[in-house]
Formats: sequence, C-alpha cells, structure tokens
Amino acid sequence: MALLEVKELVTYFPHDKGRVQVVDHVSFTVNERECFGIIGESGCGKSMTATSIMRYTNEVGARIAGGEILFEGRDVLSFNKKQLQDYRGGEVSMIMQNPMSALDPLFTVGDQLIETIRRHTGANKKEAYRKAEEIFTFLGIPTDRMKAYPFELSGGMLQRIAGGIAIGADPKLIIADEPTTALDATVQLQYMQLLKKIQRQTKAAILLISHDIRVIQMMCSRIAVMYAGQIVEEGKTEDIMNKPIHPYTKALLSAANPHAVKVDRISTINGQPPFLLNPASTCRFTDRCEHCTKKCLERNTQMYVGSSIEHLHRCILMAEENEKNEENAADRADERSSEDPGTEERKAAV
Ligand SMILES: Nc1ncnc2c1ncn2[C@@H]1O[C@H](COP(=O)(O)OP(=O)(O)O)[C@@H](O)[C@H]1O
Ligand code: SF4
Ligand SMILES: [Mg+2]
Repeated sequence: MALLEVKELVTYFPHDKGRVQVVDHVSFTVNERECFGIIGESGCGKSMTATSIMRYTNEVGARIAGGEILFEGRDVLSFNKKQLQDYRGGEVSMIMQNPMSALDPLFTVGDQLIETIRRHTGANKKEAYRKAEEIFTFLGIPTDRMKAYPFELSGGMLQRIAGGIAIGADPKLIIADEPTTALDATVQLQYMQLLKKIQRQTKAAILLISHDIRVIQMMCSRIAVMYAGQIVEEGKTEDIMNKPIHPYTKALLSAANPHAVKVDRISTINGQPPFLLNPASTCRFTDRCEHCTKKCLERNTQMYVGSSIEHLHRCILMAEENEKNEENAADRADERSSEDPGTEERKAAV
C-alpha cells in the first residue's frame, strides 16, 4: 500500500464567474521512504496540491470539490479535528519556502523545536531537550544556537531549523515546498544534501515540490510534471529526463538546460499558463505548443501510457504517434513472418 495516495483531486477558488480550478483531477502516489517530485512553472498548482493534502484549503479560501486523499489507506478528507491534529505536524510535516512561516519570532528556535517534539512524540521536557540537541548537531548547527531568536539567524540557518522542526515529530512524510528557492546557490546545494541526510536518517518519505528541475532530479526517484492544474507527465526520473514525451516537459527541460536534453527540436516556452476560470477539458498547453493541431483544440485530454506502464503523459499527438509506431512495428513483424518460409518448410526444402 502506498503511504500517500492522491486520486482525482479537484481544488478550486470560488470566483464571481465560476471556479478557478487550480488542481484538476490530480492523481499520484508516494511510497514509503520514497522521494517523489512535483515540478512545474510558477502558478501551475503545486502549492495548492500540497495545501489540499495538508487540508489547509479553507484557510486560504479554496475548496476541495472532489477526489480522495488517502494516507496509509485512511481518508484524510473525512478526518475529524483530533485526527487532523495528529496528521498535521505529527504524521506529515511541511517545510515551506519561507522558513519564518514555521517559526514564531517571539520564541527561541530551541524552544520551538522542543515544543514540536513534546507535542507530537509525547516526550517529557528533558527527553525533548536531548532530542532537540541531537537534531541541531545533525543539522550541523552548534547547540548554543538553540537559545537564538529567529531574527538573530541567517536565512540558510533558519531553513535548516525549519527542516529540523519538520523532523522533530518523526513524521512518515515530509512535504517540502520549494525549500531552497529563497537560498543562494551554494546554500541550496548544502540544503539538498541535508534533505538527503534527513531522508536516510528518518526513513521518512519526501514529497518535494520545486520549479527547479536540478533540485528534483538530484533528489527524486519519480517525478510528476504539472501544468495549469493538471499532471501532464509522470514517470521515473530517468525516463522523464531522458525520454520526455509531453511538449511541456520537453520545453521545461530544454529551458533549464538546452544542451543536456534529448529532444528532436528545441521547443520554446514563451507565453503564460492560462487563467483557470472554468477551464476547458481540452489540452491546456495549446496556446504555447508549437505542435498544436486542430485535434488538440477539439479533443478532451486524458493520461496515456508512454514508454512503459509507469510513464504516463497527457499529449494527444504523442499518443497518436506512439500508436502509429506500434502499428507500423506490428505490420513489419507480420511482413517478416509471411516472408519467412518457416522451420517446417525449410526442413522440407533441405
Ligand atoms: N486566493 C486565490 N484566488 C484565486 N486564485 C488563486 C489564489 N491563490 C492562488 N491562486 C491561483 O492558484 C494557482 C495555483 O497556485 P499555486 O498552487 O500557488 O502554484 P505553484 O505553487 O505551482 O506556483 C495560480 O494560478 C494562482 O494564481
Ligand atoms: S495535445 Fe496538442 S497542444 Fe497539447 S501538448 Fe500535445 S501537441 Fe501540444
Ligand atoms: Mg508554490
């Protein structure tokens, strides 16, 4: 059983003229101890997917209109207040882009970590203090910094401490939403190494959200590519990196590193994602896709099987090409077998 299963999740913001559907039938799973990545441009629904998983949608004015979120098989959308409290921060914790959202400026960082440990693990004050010291040492931060207030620490150190608070409760899943975006390049790399170390040590699964393919590639074994509220491609990291199928994935990869990506033509990624007010069920990438045909504007999209059963994509054209290639391959195989006299005939001829 998967640790987290998101099935056909739909989340929207109410609007005078209907719904701004920011998460649209999104499905994926995160297995135990796995690092699963969600990649996509800014505004494509990554954070709202995480917000829905944490059930913080009401707090930001959004609504979950459909689908399921299962954590260890339990239905998160029907959790009562107590179950939700245990789930948030206890079973699942979140590292946000801005570490200050996890920290209270009025308390020392050590006290905040100790409080998290006590609240979620039932440890007494002494045990929690010892565990907080261990976490600081693990994070590579001198334990005397436990007495510091957030404003006394650098951005990189605060992000490390936010990571420490996320692991303080021994969660089974850590959701890290753009955890390195506010950090400079060298600190970013150190932070990713720290996240890897956290994963090895805690054995927690990680749902890593980023617009930066290098970050996702470094950490994740599987990736979902999101565009305009939908998953447009999903698969193992090596398949997404080496055999991208959807034009948006190709454009995203070639924009990140034009020389490293094996694409037939370098696609452009000019333009903006569409506004998702009452979105159509046809492909959302049509305005920006250089391969767009009449069919793309008329037909509803769905997920298609790509290079393997684990590699899925949402491009009508690529699905058709794939089908044609398969038919041609089957025809060639038929032709070869009809030309081949066969073993019995060969024997007779000898
Ligand atoms: N309060 C809001 N009302 C309407 N739309 C919103 C609101 N907050 C966010 N959005 C829209 O939701 C979409 C998804 O946002 P988000 O999940 O934050 O994207 P990402 O994390 O991928 O950058 C964006 O297009 C954004 O404009
Ligand atoms: S369905 Fe058509 S418009 Fe959409 S990505 Fe594929 S080729 Fe481009
Ligand atoms: Mg975001």
